Amino acid sequence: MINNKLPKIWYGGDYNPEQWDAQTWQEDDRMFKLAGIDVATINVFSWAMIQPDEESYDFSFLDETMDRLYNNGTYICLATGTAAHPAWMAKRYPDVRRVDVQGRKRKFGGRHNSCPNSPTYRKYATKLAGKLAERYKDHPGLLIWHVSNEYGGYCYCENCEAAFRVWLKQRYGSIKELNKAWNTAFWGHTFYDWDEVVAPNDLSEEWAGGRTNFQGISLDYRRFMSYSLLDVYKLEYDEIKKHTPDIPVTTNLMGTYQELDYFEWAKHLDVVSWDNYPSLDTPVSYTAMTHDLMRGVKHGQPFMLMEQTPSQQNWQAYNSLKRPGVMRLWSYQAVAHGADTVMFFQLRRSIGACEKYHGAVIEHVGHEHTRVFRECAELGQELVTLSDSILDARGNAKVGIIFDWENRWATELSSGPTIALNYVSEVHKYYDALFQQNIESDMVGLEADFSQYKVIIAPVMYMVKQGFAIKVEEFVAAGGTFITTFFSGIVNENDLVTTGGYPGELRSLLGIWAEEIDALFPEHKNAIVMNKTWGALKDSYECGLLCDIIHSEGAEILAEYGDDFYQGSPVLTVNNFGKGKAYYVATSPEPAFLQGLLANVCEEQNIKPLVHAPTGLESTQRVKNGESFLFLLNHNANDVQVEIGEETRVDLLTGQAYSGQVTVTGRGVMILKGAAQ
Ligand code: GLA
Ligand code: ZN
Repeated sequence: MINNKLPKIWYGGDYNPEQWDAQTWQEDDRMFKLAGIDVATINVFSWAMIQPDEESYDFSFLDETMDRLYNNGTYICLATGTAAHPAWMAKRYPDVRRVDVQGRKRKFGGRHNSCPNSPTYRKYATKLAGKLAERYKDHPGLLIWHVSNEYGGYCYCENCEAAFRVWLKQRYGSIKELNKAWNTAFWGHTFYDWDEVVAPNDLSEEWAGGRTNFQGISLDYRRFMSYSLLDVYKLEYDEIKKHTPDIPVTTNLMGTYQELDYFEWAKHLDVVSWDNYPSLDTPVSYTAMTHDLMRGVKHGQPFMLMEQTPSQQNWQAYNSLKRPGVMRLWSYQAVAHGADTVMFFQLRRSIGACEKYHGAVIEHVGHEHTRVFRECAELGQELVTLSDSILDARGNAKVGIIFDWENRWATELSSGPTIALNYVSEVHKYYDALFQQNIESDMVGLEADFSQYKVIIAPVMYMVKQGFAIKVEEFVAAGGTFITTFFSGIVNENDLVTTGGYPGELRSLLGIWAEEIDALFPEHKNAIVMNKTWGALKDSYECGLLCDIIHSEGAEILAEYGDDFYQGSPVLTVNNFGKGKAYYVATSPEPAFLQGLLANVCEEQNIKPLVHAPTGLESTQRVKNGESFLFLLNHNANDVQVEIGEETRVDLLTGQAYSGQVTVTGRGVMILKGAAQ
């Protein structure tokens, strides 16, 4: 349990009483009770209020707010407030202001804007976290710490540049090793001394938001920035822990956010929390994948849904309303994938600045007679009914899909073979192919224990880090199935090509050699022609993006290209390796092919779909103490029929028992309890 002071799915969200008056606070208290809200995230942007100048701290408002909320039955997710520095600090200490990718020194403004290597920021952020922890350590309402907010963005100032050199020295030891790792003999960029290394931005090696001349330095800068921001988070974490070792600490992550390596971050969070803002047209399976990733970064531990909007966003191009029932449906989707909280941004809609059109539990009209409030209050009641039944329940997937931020950075920094390669969407294609068939999967990092899985899928495993190939070989030799794709096994962790033939270190496992890589224009397609019918796979399928031209070196050829000068050469292969199999998919196929392939592979490994259901019906399972909770989430507006099997299961939301065919109403949710398999 995240904190057993509140043994149920926490329900609440971001609350900014500093923007309101005393009369409104009373109304807030009344309406929070009506809505079943039991946790409020406060103090997220209150640094300016608490520390009006360098010497003074004033906690009176926070004291009052903590007491008021707690006395009203609302627990507190207490933010440290360091996500936006005060104006006086920006004026007096320019080092807190970042330098952007174009080399421009920022002025005061915005948020999430402090340089992580600024001595001033590090000193005062740590000090504030310490003061808060000392002051509120015994407050009965304190449930969890929320450090800063949505860390992100990079800085290219001189302090960062200096810290980068220190980080590089630690990583490489000598300038000679650094030159080797970055292949600086290219274009005569040899470094003679550490202080010749500068931050890679638009003034040096990069342009157009991430294109680079030297992948080595650009990749390392991303590692270093992720590390720097994590380091400044850790300063606050450590300070808090001195006073409240038993209160959990988190910071809110952002799903598939590009710039931070969340597998590294998760090691330093007591519980992962994240902010879920899908658009109306975001594929349901993309949101599902992101939840699974947020569960996966901490090895399957339940996470917090820290933010979602009850109705609409303000920052997307088209901020559609969540249709009636959708807020509830998406809240349960988070729970189905491992969330033990349902929280919103924001509890009350602000009246000024850029978030006044962002949805809230309490709308501008101020009373409870709104559609949004009613839906929130109904969900609040349901979560009370669920009590602690699902808390701490885990997933039970037998398929693991690898996601690796460094590999992603490297593929995206790559100059060639195509600008159209998007790592996350290639991963999502595989996730979606399983999702559409109600087969569960976990999103896993390279450090995951593969032995709990029967199938490991590594889409676009471009960068093969030290130890990875051996780990996969062991997994396959013991009977596992490994699937990887085009543009895999190309480079090591410094983005240096493994010579001797692609896919480098994975070559003997896969039993193939990739001789060339063809990049297709978006309108240009090739075909995957099956050599013979294999389960659901027959005849031919469309493919595109990249086509590896491969030769079998022992692998069985299951399909060949249908077109172009490499027509007839292998495109899908399988290699027997020890007791297991390794598949290579040499191109990016259409969804029907991937669904067929993964259905076949799962069948070979005796992995069954959770249910049989029409499109738009999502199912997941959480298990604990020998019980399984089968979630059925109907993303369609109309009712659907789902086959759940013989066993009788009881819906936690209604108490009714079901087996065989069940009807899930349009946008409806069922949580069916049964015995774990
Ligand atoms: C983020 C932030 C919040 C708020 C919301 C709006 O998630 O953490 O402060 O700005 O976005 O969607
Ligand atoms: Zn900086």
